[in-house]
Amino acid sequence: MDKHEHVCVCKGVSYNEIEDAINNGAQTYEDILEETGAGSVCGGCIERVDEILDRLVIR
Ligand code: FES
Repeated sequence: MDKHEHVCVCKGVSYNEIEDAINNGAQTYEDILEETGAGSVCGGCIERVDEILDRLVIR
């Protein structure tokens, strides 16, 4: 996945921004939502956000 690619098209949130949120302590989809707004419009990106969380967060 391109790091500048929009993960959430509705809110214009890039992979990089999600990665930053995770580096700032976000551990769940709700944390990402709060920090970036990703998923708050159509919800179509929630699965992609979850995949990034699975990849980057040690749970
Ligand atoms: S693509 Fe993220 S809310 Fe629509």
